[in-house]
Amino acid sequence: MAQTRQLTNAMQVYARLFVYIRRHWLALLIAVMASMIYSGIDAWFIYFLKPLLNKGLVQKDAHFLSWAPWLVVLVFMLRGVASFFSNYHIASASRSVIMALRQDLFAKLQRLPARYYDHHTSGHVLSVLLYSVEQVAHASADVLTTAVQSSFLIIGLLVVMFSISWKLSLLYFIIIPLITIVMRITSLRVRRLSLRIQDSVAELSHNAEENIEGYKVVRAFAGQDYEIDKFNRLARFNRQQEMKVVAARAISVSAVQLIAAAALSVTLYIATLDIAGSVLTAGGFVAIVGAMLALLKPMKDLTTMQNKLYRGLAGAQSVFEVLDEPQESDLGHGVLQRARGHICFDHVNFSYHVDKPVLHDVSFSVQPGDIIALVGRSGSGKSTIVSLLPRFYEDYTGQIYLDDKPLCEYRLADLRRQFAAVSQHITLFHDTVANNIAYGSFEKASQQQIYEAARAAHALEFIEQLPQGFDTFVGENGVLLSGGQRQRIAIARAILKDAPILILDEATSSLDTESERHIQDALDGLMKSRTTLVIAHRLSTVEHATSIIVMDQGRVVEIGNHAELLALNQHYARLYRMQFKDLPVERESDAVSS
Ligand SMILES: Nc1ncnc2c1ncn2[C@@H]1O[C@H](COP(=O)(O)OP(=O)(O)OP(=O)(O)O)[C@@H](O)[C@H]1O
Ligand SMILES: [Mg+2]
Repeated sequence: MAQTRQLTNAMQVYARLFVYIRRHWLALLIAVMASMIYSGIDAWFIYFLKPLLNKGLVQKDAHFLSWAPWLVVLVFMLRGVASFFSNYHIASASRSVIMALRQDLFAKLQRLPARYYDHHTSGHVLSVLLYSVEQVAHASADVLTTAVQSSFLIIGLLVVMFSISWKLSLLYFIIIPLITIVMRITSLRVRRLSLRIQDSVAELSHNAEENIEGYKVVRAFAGQDYEIDKFNRLARFNRQQEMKVVAARAISVSAVQLIAAAALSVTLYIATLDIAGSVLTAGGFVAIVGAMLALLKPMKDLTTMQNKLYRGLAGAQSVFEVLDEPQESDLGHGVLQRARGHICFDHVNFSYHVDKPVLHDVSFSVQPGDIIALVGRSGSGKSTIVSLLPRFYEDYTGQIYLDDKPLCEYRLADLRRQFAAVSQHITLFHDTVANNIAYGSFEKASQQQIYEAARAAHALEFIEQLPQGFDTFVGENGVLLSGGQRQRIAIARAILKDAPILILDEATSSLDTESERHIQDALDGLMKSRTTLVIAHRLSTVEHATSIIVMDQGRVVEIGNHAELLALNQHYARLYRMQFKDLPVERESDAVSS
């Protein structure tokens, strides 16, 4: 289930949160001052009980009774205004912190390397962005409000107590070390539980997301019960952890109140002895007992606040863990407007996992304007080769050159501008057809260009049938379109990007033969002026390539053009024969081999 993470140093997390909070010092200052007024009034009111009883009730002072009620009304109006200012400004500061954290997180997500996404589910990432950040929000808003208001109230009440009888007040102080112990014990537990809760929310959201996206598979394979079971287990785990936090909090609140109540009763007892010695007036007695009783609430609030604070800290820890992930390196300074398109792989070795090499000693070179086909069995490393070009993965050995300069020497943005890729897994955004085609060149692309790109990709025929044509929304990842339609939009996008190097990874695999032939014609036109890397299982689409690279288990096993490779009569010829069993070519190649 949820993996256990280490608690990082709380002070470090505070310090980093403080950087975000510091920007809103003015709002916080206003909030703190308003809170001081608010709590001051509460404490004052307790103090006011003394004259109220002594002068008002005991002595029945007419002058006092004439203005006292008005004063109370006035003061409580002020209290209301102060409360508004305090709550509003604290919330404003804390919501701004949340917004800043979210923005930073999202910006970070744009710069995390491919490996991060290989190892983290989108549910995990989403839960940090939505849930953990929100924990920080609750914690910081509630905590700030409570911390400021309660501490000032406690200070105010103590002042009241001390001014009435410092001896009795001192007595009350024995509770402080006891309360501190209780708070320390709970805080550690709550923080640990909070991390676990965050992990479980991540799993819940990952699980839900997978099921929502994959609902057809779940139903078709009758996986509902299995999925419901799994989800229920996760939900139960989440509830258990939440309940443990609730229990820890409830126990600590009761313990603190019990300690305070015990101290109160001792003080009360001694106070009554004091009254016998007529040290306290009736009003003084009521005020000091009132103050002690009134202390219970802010103390309780501080105790519960602590738990919220630790949830917030755990949230902040998750947020900072993402923010601290190393991002894609972009140390190259090479400026590149438009590459000529000369690519060279020089003894490249690469693996996704340390002990599982995926590419072995891959070497080949591509001249500008060439069409290079990568063919080979599934899993032989074709997509991996092309994913190294835009530097999605950088920890390969050997060297890859573009226009005779290693890839790492270019500025990342410049390098990536050189490639237009139609990848094996098409990604469309829940946006209009036009925006999907113009993705990445929103400002630059004119309506006309979008139209032309769609025409070249043979997408016009179906786009015009759509209810709103180019303005039709395509659904999440293009669910409202067919596989072949999605591919054609992706091809149009690549055409519009007009990059010097075109990468087509199974770009036409979902198309019928006729559409494929049409698109092939369009792509042929496009390929003339650029370097193209084509990955295809259907070998008929790569017969005309300048050169065909045959991959097997991560190695380049053959390089040559169609005729040469057929003549060689090994891997390629074997693949080719399997696909064209009934064609005369087979006999031709057999003839060559015999
Ligand atoms: N992100 C990844 N993390 C770990 N391993 C991966 C990852 N992507 C691919 N692999 C592994 O690397 C190997 C090569 O995969 P690759 O996608 O390059 O194959 P391919 O030749 O494109 O296959 P196909 O023709 O099926 O698309 C496979 O064994 C695959 O399991
Ligand atoms: Mg592939």
